[in-house]
Amino acid sequence: MMAHFRSITQHRVTLSDGTEFDVAPGQTLLQAALAAGLDWPNGCRVGLCGSCRCRVTSGRVRALTDFSDVLDAQALAQGQVLACRCQLESAICVNSDQLLCGLAPDDVDIDATITRLERVTPLVLVLELTLDHPHPNGYSGGQYARLEVPGTVPPRCFSFANACRGDGRLRFFVRIFPGGRLGEWLTDADRVGHRIRVSRPLGRFVFRDSRRPALFFAGGTGIAPVLAMLEELASRPASEQPPVRIAFAARDQQHLFYRRYLEPVVDRWAIGTTINFVNVLSREPRPSGWKGLRGHFFEHLALLTAGFEQADTYLCGPPGLVDAMQFHLIKSGYAHARISADRFLPSFA
Ligand SMILES: Cc1cc2nc3c(=O)[nH]c(=O)nc-3n(C[C@H](O)[C@H](O)[C@H](O)COP(=O)(O)OP(=O)(O)OC[C@H]3O[C@@H](n4cnc5c(N)ncnc54)[C@H](O)[C@@H]3O)c2cc1C
Ligand code: FES
Repeated sequence: MMAHFRSITQHRVTLSDGTEFDVAPGQTLLQAALAAGLDWPNGCRVGLCGSCRCRVTSGRVRALTDFSDVLDAQALAQGQVLACRCQLESAICVNSDQLLCGLAPDDVDIDATITRLERVTPLVLVLELTLDHPHPNGYSGGQYARLEVPGTVPPRCFSFANACRGDGRLRFFVRIFPGGRLGEWLTDADRVGHRIRVSRPLGRFVFRDSRRPALFFAGGTGIAPVLAMLEELASRPASEQPPVRIAFAARDQQHLFYRRYLEPVVDRWAIGTTINFVNVLSREPRPSGWKGLRGHFFEHLALLTAGFEQADTYLCGPPGLVDAMQFHLIKSGYAHARISADRFLPSFA
């Protein structure tokens, strides 16, 4: 089924209900299906959520990422693939029985107006939006949405940085990459008042159990889902606010932008319940006035986990940081099942 050479011709897809469409060279199966006007289910579009899965009954596809991160052995043996992460090497047939039915009622993108944009570090923008109408079922702290500027910037995933208040006001932290399509669009002109499109809430990286202590490890803009979860917990009764520690990785002191958003949350935490944060700076110049930790999380693991040995842990931000911390936490005795991870993978278009 899988092949490892690059196709230079377009190939036809035939669904079991008789629908046909073509996939151009370089296009993913999902991109072609959406371009053909099909309501193909999808979420992250980077191979994380599994919503675009389908069963290929004949023909060859090329996997752009390892499907086994999302699909179990049985699904792979049945010929399931992730449409957002595969290209075609031949004409294929796809079973459409479970495909084109059952889009969630809130599966429609919502337009929004940019209300605030602020560069809070050389690499990070705070982006605030107001949706034309709030997400019908709200969202949970830790989830993300796809942001898109139709015709200009293709969809990109960004985690909500504030808890849902039901008023359609959203905050995101946007890391700027050289050549980044969204980052450049947001910074090359005054975009306040401009329109942007927001998907439904996506993802399962949410707070697990408020009866258990929680230990967060976040790098850079990976602090966004942590803030949204904590803001949500801060509005719950004191008995539902667990002991919390947040470890934050940044380059240097000028990247500690998150404090002004976290401090109001800390002020609302139940009296007598621990909530503290620790910064670890990897490139703080020497000498400097910094008296905190330097280096990387794993170099200070015993200190950062002290008192939180029984905690649920949450890792979010750059994939390298998340993978390294997952490895070190498991090595130091944390059960895999108690570690939740949210990798900020690059987009593919
Ligand atoms: C579930 C999820 C949640 C996310 N939440 C956030 C968030 O809250 N804040 C945030 O800043 N980002 C987040 N990301 C990452 C973000 O979607 C990507 O970084 C996105 O590609 C940035 O779009 P852009 O148009 O600015 O840059 P692009 O045009 O996509 O990329 C420009 C260049 O930068 C490189 N690049 C882009 N993103 C990354 C990356 N993450 N790591 C390394 N290289 C990269 C690309 O390969 C390319 O060379 C999230 C990703 C996922 C999957
Ligand atoms: S849309 Fe394909 S895995 Fe999420």
